[in-house]
Amino acid sequence: MSFDDAISALSNDALKFVKDEQVIGLGSGRAATELVKSLGKLIKQKNYNIKGVPTSLQIKLIAEKVGIPLVEADQVENIDIVFDGADQIDSQKFVIKGGGGALLRENILFNLAKKVVVMADKTKFVKNFTRTVPVEVHPLARNYVPMSIKKIGGIARLRSLDKGYPFFTENGNIILDCDFGTIKNPKTLTQKIKGTTGVLESGIFLRKPDVIYRAKNGGKFDIL
Ligand code: A5P
Repeated sequence: MSFDDAISALSNDALKFVKDEQVIGLGSGRAATELVKSLGKLIKQKNYNIKGVPTSLQIKLIAEKVGIPLVEADQVENIDIVFDGADQIDSQKFVIKGGGGALLRENILFNLAKKVVVMADKTKFVKNFTRTVPVEVHPLARNYVPMSIKKIGGIARLRSLDKGYPFFTENGNIILDCDFGTIKNPKTLTQKIKGTTGVLESGIFLRKPDVIYRAKNGGKFDIL
């Protein structure tokens, strides 16, 4: 039994929050993919009238495959539950997201949601954030934003694909992966990052999850 078994088991457990007629936000990545597959089965079994709101083309393709009817974030006034993964979770329950580049849409959904459920394996849990913070930036601000990041103590690196081409988000922007070392005050740092002209989104989300699932060894999980 592996982490993947645990992610699959906790995805099934997380479906207990889902009710008929709800609007469900669909995060991106591996954990969200497992959840979406399980949700597709639930909808078929119970004949639920549920609408999914995708955060990326990646998850949209999975949702279409398993038959979840979809609407866009600008067609709803709120979202009942968002299910998503995370890149890191600190002891204050802030999350870093954007490893896959979907942070702007993911954060819009977090803020529209009545309930946010995050699912991650145990390697993602830390006392203080240690990984780089993905920052979505308008391409014309690619020189300006790194200078501002430097002033607030970070080093910005342009995210690139394997052959060196820049990575573009689904919104046509670039991602700067910013190294701030150990982050002890995520809220203040996020306010500074988001106060920079040309920044569209920061990967540190200030809307904390309501429920956090932690996948463990041996196909087990717990809820924080
Ligand atoms: C997408 O941009 C990310 O925020 C993902 O949700 C995050 O990287 C978690 O992905 P996994 O569940 O694949 O680890």
